[in-house]
Amino acid sequence: MERTLVLIKPDAFRKHYTGDIIKRYESEGFHILAMKMLKMTKELAAKHYAEHIGRSYYEDLEGFMTSGPIIAMVLEGEDAIGAVRRINGKTNPKEAAEGTIRRQFAESGSRNAVHASDSPENAAREIAIFFNATEIFD
Ligand code: CDP
Ligand code: MG
Repeated sequence: MERTLVLIKPDAFRKHYTGDIIKRYESEGFHILAMKMLKMTKELAAKHYAEHIGRSYYEDLEGFMTSGPIIAMVLEGEDAIGAVRRINGKTNPKEAAEGTIRRQFAESGSRNAVHASDSPENAAREIAIFFNATEIFD
């Protein structure tokens, strides 16, 4: 069993896709171990997206991610890190496969509905940014 951190980004929240996205993960068999709605501050964005600081798109990414509520979740399941990224689809919805969350719900390559951890190291790091032990039900 593996755990991964998922964020529902402000574009999807604004368009009322939150329920559809959560339902998709549940119907794929993942267990929700933790969930909260919050505002991503600039400080939180800098922690979560540390490897992107200084890149050409960072200011835009920071502005977007702090523009409205996000939902943070810890999902658990078999091969959760890889499986959730496959269900989310490629970063740009135009390149994302039919049936993926980004293909269905994302606005663009930057406003792309969801985030999911890309490695066990990042999953552990990102889960710890958003949740403390008492908020995770295992
Ligand atoms: O989210 P994912 O792991 O698929 O992509 P990433 O390359 O790690 O980039 C993180 C996030 O930064 C993306 O999901 C986009 O929201 C944003 N981004 C962007 O706005 N413009 C880019 N050229 C690349 C990424
Ligand atoms: Mg990434």
